Amino acid sequence: MADGKKITPKKPVICAVFASGNGSNAENILRHAQSRGGGISIPLVICNKAGAPVIVRAEKLGVACKVIERAGTKSEQEAAILAALKEHDVEWIFLAGFMAILSPDFVAAYKDRIVNIHPSLLPQFPGKDGYGDAFRAEVPVSGVTLHYVDDGIDTGPVIAQKSFAREEGDTLETFRARGMELEYALYREFIDILAQRAAA
Ligand code: GRF
Repeated sequence: MADGKKITPKKPVICAVFASGNGSNAENILRHAQSRGGGISIPLVICNKAGAPVIVRAEKLGVACKVIERAGTKSEQEAAILAALKEHDVEWIFLAGFMAILSPDFVAAYKDRIVNIHPSLLPQFPGKDGYGDAFRAEVPVSGVTLHYVDDGIDTGPVIAQKSFAREEGDTLETFRARGMELEYALYREFIDILAQRAAA
């Protein structure tokens, strides 16, 4: 620089995505972070199921996907996950279809830095099948929730929610597809806020 001042670029926020299955949320998160061209870096996906489609999705986007299945105790598995996170200096964790409950010790290690997407308007329909439960209950309006993870199941503080109407003729598939688009949007918005906050 002519005036001798150095411009130090802001360090990106380093995040990891945890997923167990299809991985459409994981892909949306990775694509969005990459397309921003800065602010958020996601060098790692953690998957707890060998053969899950999310592994290929991550690899196609050039992101390492580490498969860490539970072979022995839960604490051994979590220790392996924590070691992988440490290797990449991960600061934030985005759960995206991660079908395992994290232990209180793990949650404490990333206190207020683990975020989950849930397919219902919490506190309605917690658990594994938010879309199915909401659809069968015939609620006229359902939605999706982005929330911090605490020691309970789908009980952590809500960050944001988006709702959608059940439409005439909806099947569970069309109902779910409408919700999934909102899941992707919530994570994209959260990533933007996190990046902006880090740049401020
Ligand atoms: C999403 O509906 C998410 O909310 C729920 O599991 C589903 C995962 O879908 N926890 P995908 O693997 O991201 O496609």
